[in-house]
Amino acid sequence: MILRVANGHCVACSDSGSNRTLATTQWFRLYTSSALGKDLNRLYSVLVLHGPNLNLLGKREPEIYGCTTLQDINQQLEQDATLLKATVTVLQSNHEGVLVDAIHQAQGQHDGLLINAGAYTHTSVALHDAIAAVSIPTVEVHLSNIYRRETFRHHSYIAPIAIGQISGFGADSYRLGLQALIQYLQRAS
Ligand code: DQA
Repeated sequence: MILRVANGHCVACSDSGSNRTLATTQWFRLYTSSALGKDLNRLYSVLVLHGPNLNLLGKREPEIYGCTTLQDINQQLEQDATLLKATVTVLQSNHEGVLVDAIHQAQGQHDGLLINAGAYTHTSVALHDAIAAVSIPTVEVHLSNIYRRETFRHHSYIAPIAIGQISGFGADSYRLGLQALIQYLQRAS
C-alpha cells in the first residue's frame, strides 16, 4: 500500500498489493496438494474477528493504520477466500464479551479463526481463555508492527495460543494471515 498523509488525513492511497503473488501461491498449493493426494474440494470456513476501534479504520490514525477501511479489508478477504477455497464470516465488535461469545459459537461452525483483537490483544485474559477453550486453529494479525510501538503493545495474550502472528504489513497482514491459516488447515487435514 502506498500512503500519503497530510495533516493527519489520507490524501492519496494506492494499493500495490498484487493478486499475482496469491495466484502463484494458489497454483503451487493446487500442484502440491494434488501431488499429496489431499482433498481439493474441501471448503474451509474461517471466522474473522476485528476488535475495538477497528471500525474506525480509514479515519483512525492513518499514519499508523493506513487509509484502508474495514469494509475494504473485508471485501478483499472475501475475494481471497474464494481463491483459497474458503469462506469468511466477519464480525467487528468494541465489546470484549461479544468477541468471547463469537469465539464460543465458532466451535463446530468454523475451521479457523483470524483475529485482530485490537487493544484487547494486550489486556484480555478472557479472549486468551476463550480461544484456548475452543481450540480452533487461530492466526493473530495486526496492521501495525506492535513490536516497534509502545512497550505496552509488545505483549500479546493471544500469541501463546495462536498458530502464529502476522504484524506490520497494514491491510496485507489480514491477507497473509488468511493464506497462512488456510494452508495450515489444508496441511492438517
Ligand atoms: C492493532 C494494534 C493494537 O496495539 C491496537 O490497540 C489496535 C490495532 C493493529 O492492528 O495494529 O487497535 O491491533
